[in-house]
Amino acid sequence: MAELTLPANSKVRSGRTFKAKGGKRVREFHVYRHDPDAGKNPSLDVYEIDLDDCGPMVLDALIKIKNEVDATLTFRRSCREGICGSCAMNVDGTNTLACIKAIEDIDGPVRIYPLPHMPVVKDLVPDLTHFYAQYASVEPWMKTDSPAPDRERLQSVEDREKLDGLYECILCACCSTSCPSYWWNSDRYLGPAVLLQAYRWIADSRDEATGERLDALEDPFKLYRCHTIMNCTSTCPKNLNPGKAIAEIKKLIYLRGE
Ligand code: SF4
Ligand code: F3S
Ligand code: FES
Repeated sequence: MAELTLPANSKVRSGRTFKAKGGKRVREFHVYRHDPDAGKNPSLDVYEIDLDDCGPMVLDALIKIKNEVDATLTFRRSCREGICGSCAMNVDGTNTLACIKAIEDIDGPVRIYPLPHMPVVKDLVPDLTHFYAQYASVEPWMKTDSPAPDRERLQSVEDREKLDGLYECILCACCSTSCPSYWWNSDRYLGPAVLLQAYRWIADSRDEATGERLDALEDPFKLYRCHTIMNCTSTCPKNLNPGKAIAEIKKLIYLRGE
């Protein structure tokens, strides 16, 4: 029988424990630690934090740990408002934004890992180089052939509304890294975040490259590796629906072939 197991150097080992110095509402934070340059296995460090002395969100706890307990902990953050997408990580088994994930909504120890199935730069920081290259590949800007007007290109209210649910995407990668098809095929499959961004320009009434964009996506790997698993939509912290955006692209390609 085949034995499925992680390579020895990938196994996550128990790490250090940092005890709280008193407090009535102490919670454990189990945090993935890994420094690929150190040549050691990843580990899970445990930090005890008194919630009476900490902000309400998971990111507040990580910032407290870094500032007061262990300055070596590495993670990305910027806006603390769910806008920049940089604090995307796996918290309590779900990809989300640490700055808008309330500690109170989690039972028991708070388990924090980097976004799944991405190379790790350090600790909670995934390497998004390939993800951004895929984003650039869909040419995410308005393309036009008609002469530029001497004012902005106008849209009707109805056409503008077609961008709702698309323009709000902050490219956090929570959806793509929750998609099993992206886990196994991300060398060629674009994944839900990038496809939603591609659809954002296809759906824009001002863009004049729809045919060219659909041509580029009509590919067995780039698009059709989506098997409608819908993890992407379930996990999106901005409540967007990348699964639906992908279905819309497939529909447009199908309809133009009729
Ligand atoms: Fe993040 Fe949602 Fe955009 Fe995916 S669709 S990148 S989960 S904001
Ligand atoms: Fe993946 Fe979402 Fe399609 S989870 S398979 S991109 S519907
Ligand atoms: Fe910007 Fe969380 S810090 S989205």
